[in-house]
Amino acid sequence: MTGSLWLDTTAAPDRGGRPLPESADVVVLGGGIAGLVTAYLLAEAGRSVLVLEADRLAAGVSGNTTAKVTAQHGLKYDALRSRKGAGAAALYASSQTRALEWMAGLPIDCDFTRCDSVVYTVNRDTVPQIEKEAEAAEEAGLPAKLVQDIDLDVPALSAVRVSAQARFHPRKWLLGVAGLLEKAGGVIIEQVRALSLDESGSPTVRTSAGDVRAKDVVVATHYPLFDRGLYFARLDPVRDLVVAGPGSSAIDAMYLDADTHHSVRGHVEDGQAYTIVGGEHYRVGAKADVEGRYRKLADWAGARAGLRSVSHRWSAHDLSTLDSVPYVGRYHPGSKHLWVATGFGQWGMTGGPAAGMLLRDLLLGNDNPAKDLYDPNRFDLRSAVSLASNNLTVAKHLVGDHLGALRKHPALDRLAPGQAEVTRAGGDLVAAYRDPAGELHTVGAHCTHLGCLVAFNNAEKSWDCPCHGSRFGVDGEVLHGPAVKPLRKWCPPALEE
Ligand SMILES: Cc1cc2nc3c(=O)[nH]c(=O)nc-3n(C[C@H](O)[C@H](O)[C@H](O)COP(=O)(O)OP(=O)(O)OC[C@H]3O[C@@H](n4cnc5c(N)ncnc54)[C@H](O)[C@@H]3O)c2cc1C
Ligand code: FES
Repeated sequence: MTGSLWLDTTAAPDRGGRPLPESADVVVLGGGIAGLVTAYLLAEAGRSVLVLEADRLAAGVSGNTTAKVTAQHGLKYDALRSRKGAGAAALYASSQTRALEWMAGLPIDCDFTRCDSVVYTVNRDTVPQIEKEAEAAEEAGLPAKLVQDIDLDVPALSAVRVSAQARFHPRKWLLGVAGLLEKAGGVIIEQVRALSLDESGSPTVRTSAGDVRAKDVVVATHYPLFDRGLYFARLDPVRDLVVAGPGSSAIDAMYLDADTHHSVRGHVEDGQAYTIVGGEHYRVGAKADVEGRYRKLADWAGARAGLRSVSHRWSAHDLSTLDSVPYVGRYHPGSKHLWVATGFGQWGMTGGPAAGMLLRDLLLGNDNPAKDLYDPNRFDLRSAVSLASNNLTVAKHLVGDHLGALRKHPALDRLAPGQAEVTRAGGDLVAAYRDPAGELHTVGAHCTHLGCLVAFNNAEKSWDCPCHGSRFGVDGEVLHGPAVKPLRKWCPPALEE
């Protein structure tokens, strides 16, 4: 069993080891869907563009998605209509649809297939919400209708069906965009991590390969990595699991359960029909039995979506904003040349390109009717309530997890192979994992972002932070930001030289 189907079925040229230019008009940080599309559109408009990617292109969340390309985003439209008005819902729909149609028009071989998108419920209590959503989505301009029957083996009571949406192979598409970007004169360098930013005067990005100056800097690192703009208080990291394998060739539409968020789509790779099912979401770093969740998801996919066996499984997390609309625009109220795209809330396949189109317009000084809707510095009273609840969760982890770990006794020598523990050792709090071969891996348990305690993920063998979603390997290396520094090395006293 391997990881993401998308990463397993694409090879990409190595873009590491290239010399870092001294400057560029625009430096884009992050080579996922938001960064690559923004970079391509700006290069096409004649700007000199440099993309810096800490790891490999399209191997972050965008390489670990389910890749439904749709403007139907769960039950978004009724919520948007009642919170921000019918005009905002219509603007959201048109910006996402424009992105979808632009994607469809690019000359990239990526199995792009038109299909309908369906959100259904099997729960009587949710039926009124589905009815309101169908009405709101249609009013917002989507080709949406209320239906009772769907072609998935679930006892659906009601559903919203949106026609002419699409599915694709996200990594084939993104590597195609990278090729188009280079043809337009853009430069891409992998394995270079942005570390900090000097925003005074002409912005300078400090990276693991040296400094680079820019007229404008676009932060598309998934979690915005610079601690300004209070993003850490305004984004909620939610992790989803995905299983895929040989399955039914009859899955024509894309499905989402409005209550459980089980997500189903088909894909054909080399003549083999795959069923892809996502779900079992949880907050990153929660003390969840991730292995158990994978089993539950695979059982559901076998019973309901025709998955015959699991050949691939993977997981990733995405970030939700306080009002469920992404943050795209000026990084903070005072920033003139620092921009951000984040918070796609599980819908970045159209959300990322829509962000790229908006950022292109903002940087070029063009008008864009959606700029206020996506403005990262917007705020309303209802957001204050979500902000308080988000930060209560963080505070609970910051204090509660420390107290819990301090009560634990040092037991490193008693950890069995495969076991992990955050525990007190000497005056330190230590994250310890004994691998199946018996070797003990120990690192400081404080996340290098803002100091919360990490928790073990038993499926991916990683230390995950419950506060803002940073993830680290068992030897402390950064797997996912906002942290940019590894967990502190820690040696059991007896082993110290
Ligand atoms: C399981 C799952 C299923 C999903 N399914 C769907 C779906 O069906 N349809 C849909 O529309 N959306 C879906 N989404 C959401 C969508 O995949 C994301 O919103 C989108 O991929 C986010 O793209 P991004 O460019 O913001 O982030 P990423 O793709 O993660 O790109 C950010 C990049 O920045 C790099 N980076 C990080 N830190 C630094 C640094 N310091 N310096 C330089 N580079 C850095 C990372 O390595 C990464 O490559 C799903 C999400 C998940 C988790
Ligand atoms: S990710 Fe912010 S404290 Fe860990």
